[in-house]
Amino acid sequence: SAVTLTLDPAFTVGPVRRRTFGSFVEHLGRCVYTGIHDPEHESADEHGFRGDVVELTRELGVSTVRYPGGNFVSGYRWEDGIGPKDQRPTRLDLAWHSSDPNLVGVDEFMQWARKAGVEPMMAVNLGTRGIQEALDLLEYCNVPGGTYYSDLRRANGHEEPYRITMWCLGNEMDGPWQIGHKTAEEYARLATETARAMRMIDPSIELVVCGSSSSSMPTFGAWEATVLEESYEFVDYISAHAYYFEEDGDLGSFLASAVDMDHFIESVTAAADYVRAAGKHTKRINISFDEWNVWYQKRAESVPPTGDDWPVAPVLLEDRYNVADAVVVGNLLVSLLRNTDRVHAASLAQLVNVIAPIMTEPGGRSWKQTIFHPFAQASEHAVGDVLRVGIEAPTYPTARFGEVPLVDAVATRDPETGAVSLFVVNRSTDGSTGVTVDLSALRHAAGGADVDVVEALTLSNPDHTWAATADDSTSVLPQDNSTAKVVDGVLTVDLPAVSWTMVRLG
Ligand code: AHR
Repeated sequence: SAVTLTLDPAFTVGPVRRRTFGSFVEHLGRCVYTGIHDPEHESADEHGFRGDVVELTRELGVSTVRYPGGNFVSGYRWEDGIGPKDQRPTRLDLAWHSSDPNLVGVDEFMQWARKAGVEPMMAVNLGTRGIQEALDLLEYCNVPGGTYYSDLRRANGHEEPYRITMWCLGNEMDGPWQIGHKTAEEYARLATETARAMRMIDPSIELVVCGSSSSSMPTFGAWEATVLEESYEFVDYISAHAYYFEEDGDLGSFLASAVDMDHFIESVTAAADYVRAAGKHTKRINISFDEWNVWYQKRAESVPPTGDDWPVAPVLLEDRYNVADAVVVGNLLVSLLRNTDRVHAASLAQLVNVIAPIMTEPGGRSWKQTIFHPFAQASEHAVGDVLRVGIEAPTYPTARFGEVPLVDAVATRDPETGAVSLFVVNRSTDGSTGVTVDLSALRHAAGGADVDVVEALTLSNPDHTWAATADDSTSVLPQDNSTAKVVDGVLTVDLPAVSWTMVRLG
């Protein structure tokens, strides 16, 4: 079954945005404690941060990191996490039925972020708390000095303000599971007044208002419209969250998860633009897709402890990803990039141990899950402009999304060098698919010079359920795809069943 892709540098969607390659660190399970922070580990620095995890974070190519939650933030008192560690309280974390010793707080996170070379994206608690506590945290972080909280930061040893740009106005406030869950109207008022006041301290911040927790929420669409009708002039982004998993053995639908992500983005964009028109606004609200991944939510380890058991850093949400999961993650990246005109930031949830590309053993080894690879490749090689790719492909029937194309793809082109990266997934479960790409427009843009394959790497395995472990995380990696060839200005490449491929042209 032949597939034809059309690339033309004249047709661009928008720039590749570094913030598309963000991730997320929540006080949840072993993400912080024994994840990024493990003083007992041989690679730990003087602050207790694991050097091996910092290395892997850099290799993954993460741009922004959202912190400290997630559901956790909706019950969090940020003041618990500052000052002398031996005086910090241990608190109940109601979101994950755990205890938090507060050994990592905002100052430690900022130390880690600097070490990992990532931009922080801070969330405030609009569940159990409100405007004042958000203002206090912003003052602590961004005001240079001479006031109570800014001087407290300095007294705690952090002379310079952090000047954090990205701020999330709470988390998933549409979800009944959220501590302090609100109706759209209630949240719209609180978020708007919090945003207005935060901007009085620092007008340069960029604010993310909560959108929907998934496209299947009963309030999806209407929530966005109500929240933006109130907050439009005070915020910059609306959030979107989406998790996918293979359900009831329906691999075909699972492999087409990006269809839902495209639909999600299209719907939120429509809601935001409706409010723009009705409210006679001129600016546009863009999307921060600040939680996305594969997450097997029905597996036992996604269920928090109960009763009197309030453990510190329990094993929670430690999904083991297989090759098919990596292909879906790659396809979700394709969707985020293809929508770069409206998706201005995104966060793979999460970074370490908790539904994560990076895994650690407490005090021991660290290793990469399968989903690490497509993210790292796209982060490194998606450069310049996103091209609008024409896709002619046969379709296959799915239970969840109807007929969907067998192949999905996006491409980027660096206008400086002419380098092109093509990211393509084969959703076929039974056999390889041949892809043909006419390169004549690229050749024309290069002044007639030949365009050739620089590198072609494919991630696949005869058994798509293969998953990496601490003992074997390397026997299935992206491998050279020797079928990729350019003959007479036409690229052809064979994509194995259930696969992710990056072809670099130059
Ligand atoms: O990432 C795991 C959880 O998923 C987050 O805490 C929450 O925001 C979402 O429901």
